[in-house]
Amino acid sequence: MSSLDSKPGQDPLWRDEFPIRSGDERLVTRRQFAKFLTLTSLGMLAGNAWILVRSFFRAAAVAKAAYRIAAASELPLGSVRLFAYPGPNDPCILIRTAAGQFLAYSQKCTHLSCAVYYDAAAGSLECPCHNGRFAVEDGRVVAGPPPRPLPRILLEQRGADLVAVGVDPQVPA
Ligand code: FES
Repeated sequence: MSSLDSKPGQDPLWRDEFPIRSGDERLVTRRQFAKFLTLTSLGMLAGNAWILVRSFFRAAAVAKAAYRIAAASELPLGSVRLFAYPGPNDPCILIRTAAGQFLAYSQKCTHLSCAVYYDAAAGSLECPCHNGRFAVEDGRVVAGPPPRPLPRILLEQRGADLVAVGVDPQVPA
């Protein structure tokens, strides 16, 4: 038996040199826990403030942006042109109706964001995912599960060009 061995039922002698118990090593004090919560909360606050500032400046930039889609003469009656507006990840569809009217909408269905397409034969915009259907004249829902009209893209004709100048969400009052 060495000098470090202990008698049965007693702590080993080395515990006299290292009195910290392994259970205590995992103990988180109230102060440490409060510090962790405070730092985590400050991190989340900073993250949210950054998102708020970023979205504010993005919205301001988007509000001013005008985007040339195409020359009006490039679109024959009943044709469509796809474009992105106001950002590169916002797909839209420009339609020249059989009557010659230019209309543009967000291409994202208001149900689950599938891409809508122009059904020239039916004269409406159709969503193939769940058979949603929107009126081409104003984007209102005429069939299926979409809960809201398609956001309309505001157009201007500037000289020969068709220009997107804003988004009308068409949220019903
Ligand atoms: S995603 Fe368009 S109807 Fe469901």
